[in-house]
Amino acid sequence: MSEEREKIYYWKNSLTWTIEDGVLNIEARKYKGHPVGVFSQLYYDFLKGKSERELEGYFSQYESRAARIIKLFVQDLMANGFLVSAIASPLELFQSQYQFIGDDYPEHFFLVKDNVDRYVEAKKHRFDSRQRSSSIVLVNTNDLPEVLHRRTSTRRFDVTKKVDMQVFNDLLISLCQKQHGESITYYYPSAGGLYPLNMYVFVKEGRVKGVSGGLYKLNPANHALIPHQLDADINTDAQYFTNKEIAKESAFTIYFTYDGEVNMQKYKGQGYFYGILETGILLGLISYYAEYLGLGSCVIGDMEFGKIESYFELNTNEVYMQSIELGMKLMIP
Ligand SMILES: Cc1cc2nc3c(=O)[nH]c(=O)nc-3n(C[C@H](O)[C@H](O)[C@H](O)COP(=O)(O)O)c2cc1C
Repeated sequence: MSEEREKIYYWKNSLTWTIEDGVLNIEARKYKGHPVGVFSQLYYDFLKGKSERELEGYFSQYESRAARIIKLFVQDLMANGFLVSAIASPLELFQSQYQFIGDDYPEHFFLVKDNVDRYVEAKKHRFDSRQRSSSIVLVNTNDLPEVLHRRTSTRRFDVTKKVDMQVFNDLLISLCQKQHGESITYYYPSAGGLYPLNMYVFVKEGRVKGVSGGLYKLNPANHALIPHQLDADINTDAQYFTNKEIAKESAFTIYFTYDGEVNMQKYKGQGYFYGILETGILLGLISYYAEYLGLGSCVIGDMEFGKIESYFELNTNEVYMQSIELGMKLMIP
């Protein structure tokens, strides 16, 4: 469907621009001359969106030399991601929200481990307030299931142990469809039963018994891992410093993407929000089920996905959400 639809260009989410001393500054880029004079009109026009077909005629309102320059300007805006024709990544979508939170910490504060430890400790104590006399105190009468007790994030994996194929199979089956006659259901909930998430699995060579290394795409309907890019060179380059060891030692990784084409027609922008929630549901499902199956797991919040994105060949409106590293836990005596 997305392949057939004509592209419509809009400004990217929370674009920042100024015109000062005759220079147009769009984020870190600077423009002079014709673009400065026409920018306010251009800005207004693209707020409403311009299709590729409309764009052809759009430049002819200017005399030929100006038209050529403005066309080049618009092409530059597209090349730099200021004018876009697809949904934004979650990172881009949410980054401006930070402006409402006070900047209370110096620039490199969170690069110092002690600072982070103290910060985390303080947040964990944020509920420590006096109880009201009318509070209902919850008492542990039934012990929680063992697997809930045991789950923690695993950051050291045993690189000498292979994951059993049956365990690998069982874990991935939890992301697949259950088919009973005509009806299709899943092991997890999804808004409207639309299931807009895609899953990709990168297996390291020799780390899962009976499974060749490489990038696979999960087909939840056929219960199959389809080879996607078996020679994908996914190493730790895309990982931030603190996550490099985790990604280096894990046996396999599951990447979740959200495809806006699947639920946005029904839910509009809210569909994206549901996609994020459903990613969280899947990370929860995988973390607990992995623990149950004897695997360790660690969610990776942020990475430079752009460095490996080409291997995934995502659809136009498909964006990377999160990944989770899995493998046999390293037993430290
Ligand atoms: C959305 C999300 C992102 C996370 N990102 C990372 C990460 O990038 N690196 C990491 O080591 N742990 C990551 N974690 C794991 C948390 O650090 C961990 O859950 C937390 O410290 C509590 O510890 P526990 O899971 O062992 O109970 C992430 C967890 C979540 C839910």
